[in-house]
Amino acid sequence: MGARLGHVIRAVVAATGGFTLLAGCVFGAPTPTGGSGAWQLVSQSVAPAESAALDTGRPGPERPAQPVQAPDCRVERCVALTFDDGPSGQTTRLVGLLESAGVPATFFALGSQVAEHPAAARAAAGHAEIASHGWAHTSLTKLTGHQIAAELVRTNRAIAETVGSRPTLFRPPYGAVDAAAVDELRRAGLPIALWSVDPEDWKVRDADAVHRRVLDAVRPGSVVLLHDLYASTVDAVPRIIADLRAQGFVFVTVSQMWGGELAAGETYTGREAEWVGRQ
Ligand code: NI
Repeated sequence: MGARLGHVIRAVVAATGGFTLLAGCVFGAPTPTGGSGAWQLVSQSVAPAESAALDTGRPGPERPAQPVQAPDCRVERCVALTFDDGPSGQTTRLVGLLESAGVPATFFALGSQVAEHPAAARAAAGHAEIASHGWAHTSLTKLTGHQIAAELVRTNRAIAETVGSRPTLFRPPYGAVDAAAVDELRRAGLPIALWSVDPEDWKVRDADAVHRRVLDAVRPGSVVLLHDLYASTVDAVPRIIADLRAQGFVFVTVSQMWGGELAAGETYTGREAEWVGRQ
């Protein structure tokens, strides 16, 4: 598990009380939209014949489970829960919890895990936004341009063939990109989705600690990094949801956090710095 565990952007994180909190910086965010009008999950549908063949009877991302009125995340207290490195044996239980709470989320799936747990991938895609985290958690900075392009295509294809739509966001393993990787992601049409709150759930493996760290760190506009690999993380989720809701937070997908307007090759962490709502 070693290489897969954890995400580190050492250059920009500030250690705070045993976990890391990105400073809510947004690089190259587009001009926010007004937040009114119907909003749809951004997804690129695959060919209809392929979709029909893959129809699981559950709503897919191209038919959102919850058609959502876009919240304006500069004003609303938005928070995005994200789950990386799955799907795994924990994913279906997690999706059930999210579903019964009516909470959208974003899953950054590994292509290799999708191949291993296709039913869990479909369960996630039936309720949540499903995005790419690469094939096998290799840092893009260790790959050539050709290898990155091949990895992106392979992962997108596995996800599309399994859940019926292609991912429209990419989260680099370890949050690591260099200029060549950014070029490839831009060419592939993928925005770079990072995070602003990291409770290090992969390290602590304790539901109480994960819950406390998330609650301590979340601000309006936060994107929270979790992993759908650990029972302790899944156990923490209902309490995280209940307590953030009690504080007036609205749950959104990563795409919703930016009003569905994320640009290929641009980097997004959180929107805390843009928030102008009432305290
Ligand atoms: Ni990861």
